[in-house]
Amino acid sequence: MPGLRGPSDYSQEPPRHPSLRINSKEPFNAEPPRSALISSYITPVDLFYKRNHGPIPLVDDIESYYVTVNGLIENPRKLFMKDIRALQKYNVTATLQCAGNRRTAMSKVRKVRGVGWDVSAIGNAVWGGAKLSDVLELVGIAKLMHSTESGGRHVEFVSVDQCKEENGGPYKASIPLSQATNPEADVLLAYEMNGEPLNRDHGYPLRVVVPGVIGARSVKWLDSINIIAEECQGFFMQKDYKMFPPSVNWDNINWSTRRPQMDFPVQSAICSLEDVEMVKPGKVNIRGYAAAGGGRGIERVDVSADGGKSWVEASRSQKPKETYISEHHSTDKWAWVFFEASLDVSRTTEIAAKAVDSGANVQPECVESIWNLRGILNTSWHRVLLRLGHSSL
Ligand code: MTE
Repeated sequence: MPGLRGPSDYSQEPPRHPSLRINSKEPFNAEPPRSALISSYITPVDLFYKRNHGPIPLVDDIESYYVTVNGLIENPRKLFMKDIRALQKYNVTATLQCAGNRRTAMSKVRKVRGVGWDVSAIGNAVWGGAKLSDVLELVGIAKLMHSTESGGRHVEFVSVDQCKEENGGPYKASIPLSQATNPEADVLLAYEMNGEPLNRDHGYPLRVVVPGVIGARSVKWLDSINIIAEECQGFFMQKDYKMFPPSVNWDNINWSTRRPQMDFPVQSAICSLEDVEMVKPGKVNIRGYAAAGGGRGIERVDVSADGGKSWVEASRSQKPKETYISEHHSTDKWAWVFFEASLDVSRTTEIAAKAVDSGANVQPECVESIWNLRGILNTSWHRVLLRLGHSSL
């Protein structure tokens, strides 16, 4: 592997912030505490959730690192960092969310398989890099294409990390060529996160960022890009990150009946409170995040102080702008919003939050109705129990 390699063990992992909640050590999967997550609209890199399927790759020599572009194209090419940096740089503020966010709560209904995440497998960063549509143009694929002349309809991203699900092979995923060649989809080959070079955990030296889509498609430590006819046949596209109905179990599952999940559905979570909190009677401040997939943006966030019988609209501290801030700074329609409400609490009660996106999609009431064996996309109303008592809140 020129410049970049995926180690076979965990002896060379990078340092991590001590306040992260570790959900699995090897591979390293961790999320920040709820309160830390909403302390900054742009999530600091060291507090950003980390989702890995193998040991973190290493760069031996950045000068010799390159990405190969192969497959159904006329002229396969090697792209060095200098080639990618020579393209127009864009800064895109985009929320990345793991499809497994809030899995732990789904497991309480019926056990699911997968890393247990609370509500913080999500973060919002300013990603800096080249647009994939410009990179593809460089290798001869025009903008806004559904297919190349030789029948390429998907763009596959391949890494170098050794994943046990791939029998020691690398992590990979694909997106449709139409999305990859659409400049407005803002798909990036990112080399910066919050103005700094990517760190090792988040994909140094180069990663894909697919805004509005589940994090699983934003491949880190990019090694090659393949233009292919069918979508990527890798484990994480075909045997994982698919949404099944509650009736499907491990005995009757047929993976080929479902498409790989792409956009993430509308989501919100209260982060100023844990699942169960003691409070004094009076006003309780509720704060959290809401995010919509597919660039739809958040239209509204409702909160309830009586378990969902009545609702008030929360205020939103960041409203998505639909316009480009400047020529080279992209839109923030891919970014989350923070919400806040002050609720009167006079008895033990359940607080709930639900968000509505610009397509009027709303979070489902019950986790039972969206339960699925892999525990993905738990977007049910987020609830916390407030018990009356003595507390510092
Ligand atoms: N890319 C590689 N090469 N290996 C991985 O394990 N995990 C994916 C994606 N890209 C993964 C990857 C998943 S499931 C998610 S949610 C995001 O990376 C997490 O990105 P982060 O660790 O930067 O938050």
